[in-house]
Amino acid sequence: MRVLFLGDIVGKAGRLCMKEQLPALKLKYQPDLVIANGENAAHGKGITKRIYHELLSYGIDMITMGNHTFSKDNIFQFINEAERIVRPANMEPLSYGRSTQILQVGSKRVAISNLCAEIFMNQVTESPFTCMERILAGIDVDYHFVDLHGETTSEKIAFTYHFAGRVQAVIGTHTHVQTADERIVNGCAAISDLGMCGAYDSVLGRDTQEVLDRFIKQEKTHYKVAEGAAILCGMAVDFDDSINQAVHIERIQIRPQSK
Ligand SMILES: [Fe+2]
Ligand SMILES: [Fe+2]
Repeated sequence: MRVLFLGDIVGKAGRLCMKEQLPALKLKYQPDLVIANGENAAHGKGITKRIYHELLSYGIDMITMGNHTFSKDNIFQFINEAERIVRPANMEPLSYGRSTQILQVGSKRVAISNLCAEIFMNQVTESPFTCMERILAGIDVDYHFVDLHGETTSEKIAFTYHFAGRVQAVIGTHTHVQTADERIVNGCAAISDLGMCGAYDSVLGRDTQEVLDRFIKQEKTHYKVAEGAAILCGMAVDFDDSINQAVHIERIQIRPQSK
């Protein structure tokens, strides 16, 4: 089985990049499953029902979320019925949506879970370590992939070493900057952060001048998403279905031409 993991899709630039580049990426890699983080898909924060369906129409099979899950009120109107979204299992409010979803992919049962890391993150209700133990105690699948949404590389790597072998992928998201530390630990594919799919000339997908005004002039600003050509970040992972383990990783980073 081959799985394509894609980093945080940020705003219109990120969505356009999915529309324009995902078909070619799917032709090249022929993935059996495409999982993308959509926590920034709607104007940089959150997701709406319209954008949820838009992303699925581009060929994304499962959308993971993060600290911005509930930034748009529209989410409350559809997340309970949205079978292709998972939201962090340990983040308030806990009563909406699902944090683990099981898909049948060929002959394999595949679970996709979403958790928030703890360090420097808000609204976290429980350590991702204890939360993950509880999820694992109640599930029996062939593959289990985790989007661990967090700020620090150390927490995400430690999580990987703790759960490797019991899960088959620990994919870090949230920082929007791709790390070059992809690895396979005991059959588990991991990277500290996938990076983002969003405007390249930006500060993490956000308008550069606006962020500068905030830093330098301490101005209160609205959240303005950057425009322009996007960088696409992700990872393709091959799993050996005879042993249900990750065997090969290819980190993907496609910058706009001339960058
Ligand atoms: Fe993000
Ligand atoms: Fe985030």
